[in-house]
Amino acid sequence: MQIKSLRGKDFITISAFKKEEIEIILNTARRLKEERRMGVKHEHLQGKSLFIIFYNRSLRTRNSFECGIMQLGGHANYLDSDKVYTPAMEGDEAAYSTERVSDVANVLARYGEGIAIRIYGKPTNWVYGAGNRYIREFARCADIPVINMEDDVYHPCQGMADLLTMQEKLGSLEGKKVVISWAYSPSVEKPIAVPQSMALGTSLFGANIVLAHPKGFDLDEKIIAKARENIKNHGGSLEIVHDMAEAFKDADVVYPKAWPVLSCLPPFNNKVDFDTMKNMFDENKNWKTTNDLMKLANPNCLYMHCLPADRGLEVTDEVMDGPNSVIFDQAENRLHAQKAVMVLTM
Ligand code: CP
Repeated sequence: MQIKSLRGKDFITISAFKKEEIEIILNTARRLKEERRMGVKHEHLQGKSLFIIFYNRSLRTRNSFECGIMQLGGHANYLDSDKVYTPAMEGDEAAYSTERVSDVANVLARYGEGIAIRIYGKPTNWVYGAGNRYIREFARCADIPVINMEDDVYHPCQGMADLLTMQEKLGSLEGKKVVISWAYSPSVEKPIAVPQSMALGTSLFGANIVLAHPKGFDLDEKIIAKARENIKNHGGSLEIVHDMAEAFKDADVVYPKAWPVLSCLPPFNNKVDFDTMKNMFDENKNWKTTNDLMKLANPNCLYMHCLPADRGLEVTDEVMDGPNSVIFDQAENRLHAQKAVMVLTM
């Protein structure tokens, strides 16, 4: 199969790429990681700038992008969305406090070589899909690559780091039981992008995916349809269960975290209904990862979490800090995966 260069391509979702292209990114990440360990200096992005625009908080994403591009000889320009004329979609502009996305994208493209954006939840009034449309509008207008640092549908950089981590620990994912599970949090203001990107990534590599959540906590049906299409092309399976213990039995990977109830958000509902969502969350406080649950899984089962985690609520400290936990490897791999994305696209 002919693979074209990834130079100039936007990185908005894993599903925009062929499996072979995802493998190229993963191989590049592995090589950059190994060479960094060996003290090899990299200057692939010498003199290049990436604009990083954040509408939401971040520890891992911001710092791994800033350190990552510095390690490649380039520079990250941090734009606090409150401190610039906020980029606004056409029709949503307000005089002298916002600037149309197309104008911002065109200006930044005259200065640098990439734009990376994080936007989900409150900044888009919790309208599911609005953050993704915003990033796609940047990509439509800018003639430099646009990287999604997490929107309301996808978190592809986390997805790549998670694939890298699973492959490092398990080798091939073919035939491995990978559990993507909901977990309880007292906060309903959670994104859904991580489990959705995990489903899209692992379904390219032959995993037997078990999606576990209480009734009503379904992922976006379009994501499930895409994961099933991937499975048809690349092998594996996808099963949906509503019992955490059933899901954990004989698992090779468990990835439990909270996500919101999509049916309580526009456009699936006519308004944001956090009250109903909170009641649904509180009815499922027992969806918590404990050592007893981990004992149902394979002895070497990986416990994964993108972080930040709600310790003591989503998961006990014993599991987070236990021998099966790979949470800090995942966090580290954000750096290597994103460096690969930048080297190949910018
Ligand atoms: N996992 C992740 O995206 O972390 P941050 O929110 O800290 O960037």
